[in-house]
Amino acid sequence: MKQKIALIGCGRISFKHIEAFVALHDTVELVAVCDPILERAEEKKVEYTKSVPISSVKIFDDYKEMLVQCKPDIVTIATESGKHKDIAVHCLKNGSHVICEKPMALSTTDAQEMINTAKKHNKKLGVCFQNRFNAPVVKTRTALEKGRFGKMLHGMVQVRWNRNENYYEQAKWRGTWEQDGGTLMNQCTHGIDLLQWMMGEDAVRVQAQTRRFMRPIEAEDFGCAIIEFASGAVGIIEGTADVYPKNLNETLSLFGTNGSVVIGGLAVNKIETWRFADAEQIGDTEEKVLNPNEKDPPTVYGFGHTALFKDFVDAVVQDREPFVSGEKGKKALEIILAIYKSQKTGMPVDLPCDFSTLEMRGEFDA
Ligand SMILES: NC(=O)c1ccc[n+]([C@@H]2O[C@H](COP(=O)([O-])OP(=O)(O)OC[C@H]3O[C@@H](n4cnc5c(N)ncnc54)[C@H](O)[C@@H]3O)[C@@H](O)[C@H]2O)c1
Repeated sequence: MKQKIALIGCGRISFKHIEAFVALHDTVELVAVCDPILERAEEKKVEYTKSVPISSVKIFDDYKEMLVQCKPDIVTIATESGKHKDIAVHCLKNGSHVICEKPMALSTTDAQEMINTAKKHNKKLGVCFQNRFNAPVVKTRTALEKGRFGKMLHGMVQVRWNRNENYYEQAKWRGTWEQDGGTLMNQCTHGIDLLQWMMGEDAVRVQAQTRRFMRPIEAEDFGCAIIEFASGAVGIIEGTADVYPKNLNETLSLFGTNGSVVIGGLAVNKIETWRFADAEQIGDTEEKVLNPNEKDPPTVYGFGHTALFKDFVDAVVQDREPFVSGEKGKKALEIILAIYKSQKTGMPVDLPCDFSTLEMRGEFDA
């Protein structure tokens, strides 16, 4: 039987959710779309029914009412980040599994409440770190799991993008401490997730500098940080929304004793370096792997949502944890909040740490 799915929040990213529902129409059926701005919900219904011609998709401006009337098995949440926690907790308590956009929340306490609620009510919670499903990332992860890197030494993520004034004008919540955070929390969270995932998921200490250089927002538009992992390995983060005049690159570089990989392109979508000690032996040389004609995807969101949603639906059916569970999704959040705390205190910050974007209010006010 198909899983009944519903979408809460029909803004900029929601087309990727609709795209995934369409691609997965053999296993899920969209029953409702919800947004207080009803025209947006209407647009999403049209987008879906163009490809999956059913007439039963209902439109709501109140997600609580939507849950009562439609009882979706799964909801996907794509509202402002600061609203994720309350909506997710309500949905989990009222019978739906939840796929939540990144970042899952804006404080460690809220993220933990989401995780605890899912557990208590025996529901699945997943977080949209869709770049984990990018083909070069999957290939790199496979190499890592086979031990081809040897011991991991250091890794770096660079997110050098442009989010101009118009981007912040379009939605006033962006760049606020209450609803979003800055470029590290919004744009760089995917890269930070990938970095910590590849380096062992065991960050123990963070030291950082962040700045609001030039964007008309409350939060940072630039940040850099050094992460220490329990293994002794080191992670480096460089993230900015200020690159002139347009997006330049999102690059993940990984260095082990027996392997070096760089995945670049606009959004970690192209392998640029692929060197392993066992490359000749197993016929996986850089010449074979590199594809100079590889194109960037049409948007920085890539193509991962469909794979992530498919895994989540399988997890529900098979009663297992989704690939990017709440616990996994919380790890990047915790690192970013530790970066914020390090900026605020001027000190290194040990993990685990409890922090909230709200504690950064006024940080860049002169
Ligand atoms: N995975 C990704 O690559 C990716 C990319 C962009 C944005 N995002 C995340 O997706 C979320 C949304 O971002 P966006 O750029 O689409 O924002 P947006 O402002 O374009 O859209 C948010 C929508 O949510 C609606 N909304 C607000 N409260 C609601 C409620 N109670 N019920 C239903 N709908 C409600 C708003 O009216 C708006 O239409 C953010 O958390 C953002 O960080 C993820």
